[in-house]
Amino acid sequence: MKRFLLTASLFLGLAFTLNAAEMASPNGAIKVNFELNNGVPTYSVTFRGKMMIKPSRLGYELSGAENLLDGFTLLGQETARQDETWKPVWGENSEIRNHYTELLVKLVQPSTDRYMNIRFRVYDEGVGLRYEFPQKGKLNHFVVKDERTEFAMTGDHIAWWIPGDYDTQEYEYTRSKLSEIRSLLTKAVTDNLSQTTFSTTGVQTSLMLKTADGIYMNLHEAALVNYPAMHLNLDDKQMVFTSWLTPDAQGKKGYLQTPLNSPWRTIMITDDARKVLASNLILNLNDPCALSDTSWIHPVKYVGVWWEMISGKSEWAYTHQYPTVKLGETDYIHATPSGKHGANNANVRRYIDFASANGFDAVLVEGWNIGWEDWAGNSKEHVFDFLTPYPDFDIKALNDYAHSKGVKLIMHHETSSSIMNYEKYMDRAYQLMNTYGYDAVKSGYVGNIIPRGEHHYSQIEINHYLHAIKRAADYHIMVNAHEAVRPTGLCRTYPNLIGNESARGTEYQAFGGTKPGHTAILPFTRLQGGPMDYTPGIFEMDCANGSHCNSTICGQLALYVTMYSPLQMAADFPENYEKHPDAFQFIKDVAIDWDKSIYLEAEPMEYISVARKAKGTDNWFVGGVTGKQAHRSDITFHFLDKSRKYEATIYRDGTDADYKTRPQSYKIEKLTVTAKTKLSINSVPGGGYAISLIAK
Ligand code: NOJ
Ligand code: CA
Repeated sequence: MKRFLLTASLFLGLAFTLNAAEMASPNGAIKVNFELNNGVPTYSVTFRGKMMIKPSRLGYELSGAENLLDGFTLLGQETARQDETWKPVWGENSEIRNHYTELLVKLVQPSTDRYMNIRFRVYDEGVGLRYEFPQKGKLNHFVVKDERTEFAMTGDHIAWWIPGDYDTQEYEYTRSKLSEIRSLLTKAVTDNLSQTTFSTTGVQTSLMLKTADGIYMNLHEAALVNYPAMHLNLDDKQMVFTSWLTPDAQGKKGYLQTPLNSPWRTIMITDDARKVLASNLILNLNDPCALSDTSWIHPVKYVGVWWEMISGKSEWAYTHQYPTVKLGETDYIHATPSGKHGANNANVRRYIDFASANGFDAVLVEGWNIGWEDWAGNSKEHVFDFLTPYPDFDIKALNDYAHSKGVKLIMHHETSSSIMNYEKYMDRAYQLMNTYGYDAVKSGYVGNIIPRGEHHYSQIEINHYLHAIKRAADYHIMVNAHEAVRPTGLCRTYPNLIGNESARGTEYQAFGGTKPGHTAILPFTRLQGGPMDYTPGIFEMDCANGSHCNSTICGQLALYVTMYSPLQMAADFPENYEKHPDAFQFIKDVAIDWDKSIYLEAEPMEYISVARKAKGTDNWFVGGVTGKQAHRSDITFHFLDKSRKYEATIYRDGTDADYKTRPQSYKIEKLTVTAKTKLSINSVPGGGYAISLIAK
């Protein structure tokens, strides 16, 4: 590792020089200034000499102990520099450069003999800072009342935000000025859009911001381990955000024991929106891969017995005999089937056949296991056992059939947020998967966490999600967790975490619809921490339950490229793809693992175009999504190999396409392109385009 110490520690006694420290990013564009202001630790950040984060306080308010907010003395500082390249198991790029400068400031609160260090990593596109508590002096363990990290804004910026909430991120984004958040959030609560909003100026991360002079900022966190998830609360008079951690059932925010490091607080700063999307800041701030063998981890393109239930065509449950007590296996044999159970042998075989015929890796089957008659919102401790199939789901025969056709089944564990119950069955559930040859599980945490009434994003639940991922790795199982905490780059350390939901996914198109623009903001926000199981690919926009998907077919195709994920679903029914085989061809062709990604154009919530080179090939795929305004993408193919020609297939919205009334209008053209070709593509609101480029 090319890491070396620039400066050795300075020690107490040099008080004259010891109240401030500065560190510039490798190219000098970003500078962090640390200052101990009358014993109060503060920092500020500049970008090309311009203040971006005004002097902001650092520290903690504790429960039952003196705070760690002031009365500090600077003991010394260390600086370092890093420039390394690492290879992710899967990703947007096959190599990632981790290039930063580092400043560690060492503090002591002499009156209490407690030590607190602050480490800054300064990248060309942003800053990470974290607290480090060595096991030293009198600080052995403490209870956090709240973390008090401030992010002082320099103006009334534009923000793209979702309401602060301890339990869900499944919201649409609002674009507003910071000063408008209070009234808009109050309205959202009045309109009952928000469930557990904790403050009328509280928002979630990753938070996207833009200053009046066109500088983009993003606030988030990296490496959230054994610590509650961070929200941000805005003082809208001073325009200062302060960290606001998720409490536990007792209202306490964190139970910490030294030595420990907090998660990184991240501040991305750039004048180019594309650089936010291209940034690896969050991944780089996570620890390297902790798994010695990753050969069993692989990207997955899948279909599923899923949209049927979501859109109202079939059901998870086997019977309509809603029991007052949990039905056992034998009771199901005598129960009257409702005739609407989606996960039945014949239907699962139909999906296996479709997956196999079209080159998909896997079939997700939800509703395979007993318990669905009485699960949601019921807060019953023991609804699911994750082991017992319904009588019409032959787990052995279906897995054998799938494997004989080169396809795997994806396991489903809806925990109904009964986490203790899940942990009780977890090993047996993973062993069952090993027995039948499943190598991936979609887990879910719908409902209130029982029995303790914890929040989804509190420390104890954060620990559960990671425990489930680590235990799955022991069984060589890949995890895609829904309703778990939004990711913070832990997929670098545990690459068997191949997906999360943790945002408003395609399912909401079947729950009344999502406005255009949502998929043009998610890559700036939710995707900063890791891939999303967004489940795109809806071709029939009118659902059995009457809901309409606000998108065009080409808008759906674009998502396979713009919403980076090693786990991609083709969510619609086989029969809907069979009606549009020419458009479906793109979903069959598109890669899910990449050597290189180049963002061509981007503006939050308005448009994103990206070109990606399929791993280990010379083929490229380009995708572009459009928000609520029509958009013209002027594409140059400068990224292509200059010595080659490519057969391009272009999928674009029809001139009369309309996400409400003519979502299935599209045009497909084939032409030969080179690195010199220029192409303009018009996309309609809620639409988009996709291009495959196959090297000749
Ligand atoms: C919510 C998830 O987001 C969805 O994908 C799943 O089908 C249901 N829960 C049932 O587990
Ligand atoms: Ca969900």
